[in-house]
Amino acid sequence: MQKMSRLSALIGPSILNADLSKLYAESQKLLDNGADYLHLDVMDGHFVPNLTFGHPVVKCLRGKIKEAFFETHMMVSNPDQWIAPMADAGVNQYTFHIEPVNNVEAVCRKIKENGMKVGLAIKPGTPVADVEKYISMSDMVLIMTVEPGFGGQKFMENQMTKVKYLREQYPLLNIEVDGGVGPSTIDCCANAGANMIVSGTAVIGAQDQAATIKLLRSSVQNAIEKYSQ
Ligand code: DX5
Ligand code: ZN
Repeated sequence: MQKMSRLSALIGPSILNADLSKLYAESQKLLDNGADYLHLDVMDGHFVPNLTFGHPVVKCLRGKIKEAFFETHMMVSNPDQWIAPMADAGVNQYTFHIEPVNNVEAVCRKIKENGMKVGLAIKPGTPVADVEKYISMSDMVLIMTVEPGFGGQKFMENQMTKVKYLREQYPLLNIEVDGGVGPSTIDCCANAGANMIVSGTAVIGAQDQAATIKLLRSSVQNAIEKYSQ
């Protein structure tokens, strides 16, 4: 049977749990080892109980890494505030949480006006229906598989019902999962229908980063082939 799918399996490591004093070297190493994009976790200490880095750091990283696709995962209370600075920093996709936002459409529009792709993220407690209504304005939906804020947490398998539902309804939607994803949980994500995979500690801590990234990608590719037939 002819395969109609245009979905790609994409692996975006998170550098959150890397040695951040070597941000550039660690990021370049991930790309050299086959990462398809970089997932940059931005936290404001308010939407989540942790702080990481903001647009000045992302801009410096972009200064050293010219080509790679940068996604910023904005775990912030006021995503509207950082759109222009992140665009100026060279971000390709601006993924924000819809929970604290009153006018999601306006934020989506502004991200596009600033030349970036739109990612919509929901926390584990947020129903998928809350994000579904905005899908037509977005390029990707992120289903969190941990409470946002920290790397190295346990994967929440119960979030797969959201991924399955979205994949059934939207065969070509980019669906990302983030949190506790690694070799032991990838098949679960892939079979549910996720095609964009964030992996932090499992990739950063791997003995063989390239092999781990390859394994994650082939699990997703196999699943796409199966469900796209
Ligand atoms: C959690 C972050 C994730 C996380 C991924 O708030 O959004 O990107 O750091 O790390 P692991 O894979 O270790 O859960
Ligand atoms: Zn993230």
